[in-house]
Amino acid sequence: MVSSGLSALCALCLLTGALTLGGWKDVYPGEPEVQRLTDTFVREYNRGSNYRNYYRQMHITEARRQLVSGLKYEVTLLLGRTLCKNGADVNPDKCQFHETKNIGALKCKFSMLVVPWMNETKILDHKCSEEMTEKLSYQNQDALSAQSQDELMQTMTFFKDFMTTYDRKYKDDAEFTTRFQIFSKNLKKAQEIQEMDQGTAEYGITKFSDLTEEEFRTFYLNPLLSSQPPRPMKAAAIPTDPPAAQFDWRDHGAVTEVKNQGMCGSCWAFSVTGNIEGQWFLKKGSLVSLSEQELVDCDQVDHACGGGLPSSAYEAIENLGGLETEQDYSYHGQKDSCTFSTGKVSAYINSSVEISKDETEIAAWLAKNGPISIALNAFAMQFYRKGISHPFRILCSPWMIDHAVLLVGYGERNGKPFWAIKNSWGPDWGEQGYYNLYRGTGACGMNTMCSSAVIN
Ligand SMILES: *[C@@H]1O[C@H](CO)[C@@H](O)[C@H](O)[C@H]1NC(C)=O
Ligand SMILES: *[C@@H]1O[C@H](CO)[C@@H](O)[C@H](O)[C@H]1NC(C)=O
Repeated sequence: MVSSGLSALCALCLLTGALTLGGWKDVYPGEPEVQRLTDTFVREYNRGSNYRNYYRQMHITEARRQLVSGLKYEVTLLLGRTLCKNGADVNPDKCQFHETKNIGALKCKFSMLVVPWMNETKILDHKCSEEMTEKLSYQNQDALSAQSQDELMQTMTFFKDFMTTYDRKYKDDAEFTTRFQIFSKNLKKAQEIQEMDQGTAEYGITKFSDLTEEEFRTFYLNPLLSSQPPRPMKAAAIPTDPPAAQFDWRDHGAVTEVKNQGMCGSCWAFSVTGNIEGQWFLKKGSLVSLSEQELVDCDQVDHACGGGLPSSAYEAIENLGGLETEQDYSYHGQKDSCTFSTGKVSAYINSSVEISKDETEIAAWLAKNGPISIALNAFAMQFYRKGISHPFRILCSPWMIDHAVLLVGYGERNGKPFWAIKNSWGPDWGEQGYYNLYRGTGACGMNTMCSSAVIN
């Protein structure tokens, strides 16, 4: 009893490199967005303060963020007294600190809601109290990268092109500057991934190039995949004949159009509907696009936009009685109350199975039975454009799976074996919405969570 408890605990230790989505996540206090919110807070705080002088930010000690419908930030910071009179027409950041600033310093904690698509930033709550300490250090966080002027101009050209291609509009200069800095960092990162890739993939500017890694993870990935063990399922029967050299279900009409999960961690739902669409087609002869929103709203075990597991989604579908069509229960990327109706069920499932971790067996099952729900580490996907992606194992650890997708085929291109993977980030990502990943070495953990629904 004790020993099995311990080993479960250790399995968990190995897997908790992952972030917990839906919950709070720490944010680097130097992030420009945290600074922007802090500036807004300090301005508002001074406006409402009875103290005769302005307070000025000394140091942000903690910042965290939660994905709600928008982003909720909670920031803890220290405010020091300055020599400027409160009400004077000056920016508090330009004011000199009082020599005894540490004595009257305040420790404040505020929470703010940012709804980027509504252009909204709103203080929800705040609390300040005096902090009696003499050892506070003021940290200046000026971290401008030392780029050469030419490099800067070139990056700016790329950035302008990017903004045109992906129709980006930033609300003001500050946002533009922040996004430009992220963009130029990402360009470097894509170059690094490119240099390290062992495949034929091209990495570079994608529609995610103005997002920090953290924003990308928050909005598009699914940490639950590696922080929670999947529900055990029956093992699938593997065909004994060796698989054909190549196979692709897109050539056999079993795959619907590429969909877009939007800013919601619902990849698990798309992976599962993709599998069931294939199973339904193969069993019943018609290809029907099925509803992810039903799972986001009605699956009580998974966490809607906060992540989920295919294994529990199958169970939820069995319990609900089936899936409605995409058309009847359409996607809007945010959890709402469940409006599922049994009368509108368009596809049902009877059970689900776990498929082998051996890639030859996975290929054999796929070619005979249909597209497979899989999970993988999305390390190389943010900047993927085309080709066969083959990151080093150490960079794309099979333990850190954070994204669920659909395996639809396999083959070889110029002698390189690959898997064809349907993603849910829209057709304007990757190869018309698809990702090609090296086959044969368990790249990025793609072989660790293969499953399918069963329709009788
Ligand atoms: C957001 O704010 C900016 C600047 O204040 C304004 O130009 C823009 O039209 C606003 N967008 C929306 C969707 O309200
Ligand atoms: C499979 O599920 C459907 C819908 O729930 C049900 O009508 C059917 O009888 C089941 N088939 C088997 C063989 O259990």
